[in-house]
Amino acid sequence: MKILVIGTGGREHAIIRRLAADRPAPELHAAPGNPGIAELATCHDAGVGDLDAQVALARELLPDLVVIGPEAPLVAGSADRLRGAGFTVFGPSAAAATLEGSKSWAKEIMAAAGVPTAASVTVTALDQLAAGLDRVNPLGDVPFVVKADGLAAGKGVVVTPDRDAATVHAEAVLTAGGSVVLEEYLDGPEVSLFCVSDGSRVVPLAPAQDFKRALDHDEGPNTGGMGAYSPLPWAPEGLVDEVVRTVAQPTIDELAARGIPFVGVLYCGLALTSRGMRVVEFNARFGDPETQVVLERLASPLGPLLLEAAHGNLSAADEPTWHEGSAVTVVIASAGYPAAARTGDEITGVDAAQQLGAQVIHAGTARDADGTLISAGGRVLTVVGTGGDLETARALALAGAEAIHLEGSSHRTDIARKAAEHSTQAAAASDNTSSDDTSDDGSPA
Ligand code: AMP
Ligand code: GLY
Repeated sequence: MKILVIGTGGREHAIIRRLAADRPAPELHAAPGNPGIAELATCHDAGVGDLDAQVALARELLPDLVVIGPEAPLVAGSADRLRGAGFTVFGPSAAAATLEGSKSWAKEIMAAAGVPTAASVTVTALDQLAAGLDRVNPLGDVPFVVKADGLAAGKGVVVTPDRDAATVHAEAVLTAGGSVVLEEYLDGPEVSLFCVSDGSRVVPLAPAQDFKRALDHDEGPNTGGMGAYSPLPWAPEGLVDEVVRTVAQPTIDELAARGIPFVGVLYCGLALTSRGMRVVEFNARFGDPETQVVLERLASPLGPLLLEAAHGNLSAADEPTWHEGSAVTVVIASAGYPAAARTGDEITGVDAAQQLGAQVIHAGTARDADGTLISAGGRVLTVVGTGGDLETARALALAGAEAIHLEGSSHRTDIARKAAEHSTQAAAASDNTSSDDTSDDGSPA
């Protein structure tokens, strides 16, 4: 099988790594790829935003399957263009990807499908702002949640107890001509669940947890994601089934009924609140960096699953199976990320990290004219550790991250820490017959 993957980040490197392990091994191509991907696939010049070049490349390569990684080309219609040219594509149409491209439209779909989510108000003009904030947060006693309506690479959302800061963010979006979605604050731990869909059926992958804030202890600004782990030892039993039944399947059905079949990954970002599960956001593609841990744990082949989804025939695909162990990934971010990432600095220590047993996934890297590996984005590398339990996986990911040198870079040191502590405590409790595990609150986030 010949597969072309469009994208340039850590998610695409992880997808290609997993595809390369399928047997029989597929022939892999990437556009444009990155230096890590280049070790596993043939990289081609077509840029993520250049839809004409993507179609021309597909015509040259004649792949059996095209996998589109990032949201920007999906929202811009890359899947439509490639399908129109006769190719089999894993990734939603521009219309279906509006689920990610417009938070207000996603809210409308969720309301129509009866999917639980935060109450919200969409504001399109400055003079509606104060009333909108009062409506979603009447007492001002919980944080304000302000979201730019369109794509913002994980940086359009501000969650703050400070009404003035919420107002400033909303005003900036509105004066730039955008609209904002104001939301009720959701408490409780977050879960990311990727649901593969062929337009009518849903196959869930393993849940993961992402760490959105830039700094340890969930401080600092929101980012695209600073680390992730899977599995979630604290997650309630039946969580995945509940998400499929109450969130993913009703959403896929609602879109199908509107004549907008969703073929690709429906990323369900969820909060497990004291009042039940709620959708925080939908994305129209695999998450980054959660993909790095979810696919690391996938034992069954990836290519056939994506191909059957793209053919509208998921019932022909085998159920995914999972490795027993744990995976943790830690993102190495460049100086200044997320506000203004510095690029062009030399990266050393990748081999040392790999010698420890960690996987080094390239996210924002490039090679300069001499072939030296340099930083080329905000999230530069994601280092993945695996092991029998979360603590072992976490220690390996951190040791790998510490073996890498990039001037001014940073990484979080608390990824999966609470969850690892939780599973250690749970293991100790199950050794102790007098223990009462109902006393555990099970919420590491
Ligand atoms: P989003 O881009 O919608 O996923 O938002 C980014 C991050 O902001 C989420 O992962 C949450 O950590 C936080 N967030 C978004 N919406 C809410 C909400 N309604 N309540 C609390 N936190 C939220
Ligand atoms: N990790 C969050 C995202 O992919 O949007």
